[in-house]
Amino acid sequence: MDAAAIAEAAERLAGAKHIVAVTGAGISVESGIPDFRSPGGLWTKYPPGEYATIEAYLENPDKVWKLWHELGRDLAFAQPNPGHIALANLEAAGRLGAVITQNIDNLHQAAGSRKVIEYHGNARHLVCLSCGREEPLETGLPVECAPRCSCSPGALMKPAIVFFGEMIPSQAAMDAENWAQVCDAMIIVGTSATVYPCAGLPMTAKAHGAVIVECNVGPTEYTSRITDVFVQGKAGETLPALAAALGAR
Ligand code: APR
Repeated sequence: MDAAAIAEAAERLAGAKHIVAVTGAGISVESGIPDFRSPGGLWTKYPPGEYATIEAYLENPDKVWKLWHELGRDLAFAQPNPGHIALANLEAAGRLGAVITQNIDNLHQAAGSRKVIEYHGNARHLVCLSCGREEPLETGLPVECAPRCSCSPGALMKPAIVFFGEMIPSQAAMDAENWAQVCDAMIIVGTSATVYPCAGLPMTAKAHGAVIVECNVGPTEYTSRITDVFVQGKAGETLPALAAALGAR
């Protein structure tokens, strides 16, 4: 791990009063959840055009449901890793105001983070596309067919995640945009910076003068454009070191 980068990041964050984190799938890889675009990631096995758009779900719900049923089953057993816990510790120590996450795995909340903005929804619930009713995703649902609601014959339910082609939940979008504008530092963890509008939040923060610290196993679009300090390494190792350097064990 790059101790010098950790020390530099801690120094740049030391005076910040409104720090926000933006996380992507990379922070959950050490919890056993594959990310999307790294080699072996979900989208390398399941083409997103066939499994991650609302059009694909409406066209062939039983096929698309199989992926989300499998992922929901894996998520049920996933545990937060030291990276999630480090962010929760930073919040508890008053050094982090919120986590804006693209992840649907609930691991930030499970680690103890209280202010979590779920930008792409969550996989813990199902929502009815007809009546809007939400219910917890029960384990043991049949994998063969997509869930249906009792509100009307054949009413389709979907995981409460944001498929490509769907709007970002309005409250999450507003809260995240507000944080991007008011923060004086942003810690970006484990995201490939490829999916908008979330990928635009760090640009907004930078434009408003925030210090940008990026934690990733490799460089991204941000690294050469807006990142002030790049901390190379696995989030489960770099974030605890950064939290310790900021006095939040
Ligand atoms: N620690 C830190 N970073 C990691 C780790 C790790 N252990 N493992 C992987 N990464 C990095 C990768 O280098 C990559 O930059 O995490 C990033 C994961 O990128 P993606 O797989 O594209 O995931 P993400 O950026 O969250 O995708 C955004 O795309 O498909 C949609 O809705 C989906 O929310 C998702 C969005």
